[in-house]
Amino acid sequence: MTLCKASLNVESPIKSGQHAHFCAACDLAPSAWVTTNFAMPPLRVGDHLECEGAEFAVVSAGWLPGGAVQASSRTYLLEALIDVDCGQWSCVVSRKGFSLAWITLSDKGAAGKRTDESGPLVGKMVDETLDLALVQGFIIPDEPCQLKGLLSDLALVQGFDLILTTGGTGVGPRDITPEATLAVIEKRLPGFERAMTAASLKKTPHGAISRAVAGTLGQGLIINMPGSPKAVAECLAPLLPTLKHTLDKLQGDPSDCALLRK
Ligand code: MTE
Repeated sequence: MTLCKASLNVESPIKSGQHAHFCAACDLAPSAWVTTNFAMPPLRVGDHLECEGAEFAVVSAGWLPGGAVQASSRTYLLEALIDVDCGQWSCVVSRKGFSLAWITLSDKGAAGKRTDESGPLVGKMVDETLDLALVQGFIIPDEPCQLKGLLSDLALVQGFDLILTTGGTGVGPRDITPEATLAVIEKRLPGFERAMTAASLKKTPHGAISRAVAGTLGQGLIINMPGSPKAVAECLAPLLPTLKHTLDKLQGDPSDCALLRK
């Protein structure tokens, strides 16, 4: 899907796989910068900038600091997908797949005392179902402020399509994932929650303990899952077939659902 056009100034050659900062109308242009004077809508992670001589993926979004009298400007981290020479390039911005972020909530994992298998399993299962342009994983402790901040940043600033959390859905003293998620979501998806519980109860009575929440924030879909790899596999499986349609609808697909085959 073509989103807009961009005129890029590449200050020095960038090798495939290397990163460069990208900003609109920025005066500072040291070597690893790509700049544009084009009026562009905000970019999201997973966007592609492409023309004959340059191809980049947007992998992160942030702010270039301003100062007392100068406002900060939006900046993006680009990854070169081919070797790019310096010069002026006229690129098309498009989306070629979805972006996925997984977040593992684990005090031990965040302290490096436990190897996380659940986050990578989420990445693998979603990758087998959806066309993914970008996947990023995060491991954080069971701290509500950190989770609320990360969910808001990933959905509203970075523009991730899909954000899946694992862990912290139970009743332990440090289990705060559902409360932190409820504090940031806009539209709750009880059907997703029921589908996970129904699938879990077919496997174990302990499925009743998970309080996992699902909902939307901006253009992003957020889903909690319990923390064990077994629980991730069991809870994610019933949701996989509806992920694409949910994201399409969330992002404004006007098509008639009455015409859906399945
Ligand atoms: N759901 C499924 N499908 N499979 C499981 O093994 N484990 C349960 C439950 N949900 C489980 C499950 C257990 S033992 C707990 S304590 C809760 O999820 C909460 O897990 P969490 O705190 O790691 O999120």
